[in-house]
Amino acid sequence: MEYEDLIRGRYSVRAYKPDPVEDDKLARLFDAARLAPTAANRQPFQLIVIHTQGRQAELRRIYHREWFTQAPLVICACGIPRQSWVREDQRRYLDVDVAIVMDHFILEATNLGLGTCWIAAFNAKAAREVLELPDEVEPLIFTPLGYPADQQSVKERKDASELVRYEKW
Ligand SMILES: Cc1cc2nc3c(=O)[nH]c(=O)nc-3n(C[C@H](O)[C@H](O)[C@H](O)COP(=O)(O)O)c2cc1C
Repeated sequence: MEYEDLIRGRYSVRAYKPDPVEDDKLARLFDAARLAPTAANRQPFQLIVIHTQGRQAELRRIYHREWFTQAPLVICACGIPRQSWVREDQRRYLDVDVAIVMDHFILEATNLGLGTCWIAAFNAKAAREVLELPDEVEPLIFTPLGYPADQQSVKERKDASELVRYEKW
């Protein structure tokens, strides 16, 4: 898919078909994530692939929307703070790194005809329990992964003139 079509075609998919995600597509998604740039190339992340079948009830403890478990897979992008780069003023770049990784993953998913939805409003305590995360691991973003059963609506965005300044604030 052309890049222009890709960034216009990605949307938050909130209805999924039950069809499985092919293994070769999963491999391409992992490669897209792996190729993402991270601060100082630390790659301080792990992706957890979760099969939803038979786990709907416990997964809904993490995010209580019916469509969250409609797709065959849910992905959890985790950050590992102690592995991440820290600027000299102690500003840690973990969240930026994981966001770039997830964006690579999500745009590749769009490229492959798959649907995703960034989810941050999940219950982190439930995620820790259900996924048995060690204390040193931060669950940062979830997405379902599967074939869309809905359609994109009109994108509502601010005009570029409201978002861009030149030379100084
Ligand atoms: C960091 C982040 C967190 C988000 N968290 C949620 C969420 O918890 N639940 C949800 O339904 N959508 C969530 N979204 C999706 C946004 O609502 C959506 O991207 C935005 O409204 C623009 O719509 P679009 O993705 O269809 O272009 C999140 C998006 C981002 C980037």
